[in-house]
Amino acid sequence: MAGTEPRLEVQALEVPKRDLKLTHHIFRYPAKFHPPVVRALLEKYTRPGQVVLDPFVGSGTSLVECAVMGRGSIGIDVDPVAVEVARAKTRNYDMRAVEEAFESILHEVAPLERSAEEYASRMFSDLSDAEYSDAKTEENLWIPEIPRLHHWFRRYVLIDLARILAVIESTEMDERVRSLSRVAFAAIIRNSSNADPVPVSGLEYTSHMKRKDEAGRYINPFALLRSSFKKCLSATAEYRRQLPIEAPEPVVLQGNAMDFRVGEEVDMVLTSPPYHNAVDYYRRHQLEMFWLGHTLNQDDRLELLPRYIGRPHVAAKDPLLKRDWSPGEIVGEWEEKMRVENPSRAADFRHYVTAMSSAFQRLSETLSVGSKALFVVGHSRWKGQEIPTGDIYEEISSDSFSLKEKLSYPIANRYMSYSRHNSASIDEEYVLVMQRR
Ligand SMILES: C[S@@+](CC[C@H](N)C(=O)[O-])C[C@H]1O[C@@H](n2cnc3c(N)ncnc32)[C@H](O)[C@@H]1O
Repeated sequence: MAGTEPRLEVQALEVPKRDLKLTHHIFRYPAKFHPPVVRALLEKYTRPGQVVLDPFVGSGTSLVECAVMGRGSIGIDVDPVAVEVARAKTRNYDMRAVEEAFESILHEVAPLERSAEEYASRMFSDLSDAEYSDAKTEENLWIPEIPRLHHWFRRYVLIDLARILAVIESTEMDERVRSLSRVAFAAIIRNSSNADPVPVSGLEYTSHMKRKDEAGRYINPFALLRSSFKKCLSATAEYRRQLPIEAPEPVVLQGNAMDFRVGEEVDMVLTSPPYHNAVDYYRRHQLEMFWLGHTLNQDDRLELLPRYIGRPHVAAKDPLLKRDWSPGEIVGEWEEKMRVENPSRAADFRHYVTAMSSAFQRLSETLSVGSKALFVVGHSRWKGQEIPTGDIYEEISSDSFSLKEKLSYPIANRYMSYSRHNSASIDEEYVLVMQRR
């Protein structure tokens, strides 16, 4: 068991600087991998032609790096927005088709854009209910049934977004390019909405945003779309130029890390699992999920919810909380500490540990003996104390994995600021290099 072997010294990971942005920045995703770290790890632990699995792939950072380094890769995520983004970032596009599609979308939407004067006046006045309903009905616009829709968006912004989306969905183009266009559209949703774009932990119309709105906030979704397309175009072109000839295209699957099957042999796992109670991925992408049609109503959303690992407020009836609970020393100590102060937080923690134990089990069935599994983990805090995520992983995976190395590197300038008031703080990360026993 973990704890009986001598503790490993933490080694510093050398992370060379690199200027290429590739497709890493086309969509803002919380708690993303730092791409140069992925590159350094792939260089150190894999060879070209090998296949890497990321069972918590998020926005696909590991897949982008694998592809340009000639490694095959498979990514899995429970979140449909993550899956669409990861796919869009890793397709080997015909760049002329992308250019033509973007041009024709921009051409079609141009007459739908309001005048500069109207956008300036909309900083202080929205459409009336009647104007909103008339525009929606006359143009037969589809607007998603987001709970508390008008809390999240101004009415004129909803009309603008619906007009843009209708053009993206109806313009003739290759389906992969359409998906890229949808991701470029998804990338403007948060900034078009009333939600604060800064906190990554969830979705909030903060007092900071309310103050901005009172002072007059300029929102022109068409202008945001133009810059999103521009970014996507240069990013996908750069990615494509960096791809080796005959690079295998990454496979991206929507699935559950606790229960997945991959159709090919995997040489290594490289992943950053969700932290306990840090980012609410389910809530974070709610607006984009509705606009992209991945969830059409609240029932669809509720069906997705139980699959997310690390979320807060797990329901007492959740099946994972009904499983036998016989924790190791470290997990047991933390669960007890939390239970004394806050039983529901302790239940969330039990859920997290049980879910991650299942994910480790699944990985052990996927990897052959001797293969490596690399976990990038940050620190999370509870009541000012650091939760030792690395030690917890070591303990819960010890039947099938042994910890071989522990590397660390500082985080600089990352999209990791959790929230304007959240106490979670993650400013350094570790890489646990584990080996299948
Ligand atoms: C730390 S993020 C990964 C970020 C990723 N490395 C990147 O660069 O974008 C963790 C991911 O785990 C996903 N996740 C949560 N529960 C999951 C589950 N049961 N199965 C698969 N993925 C899950 C979340 O949706 C989130 O995308």
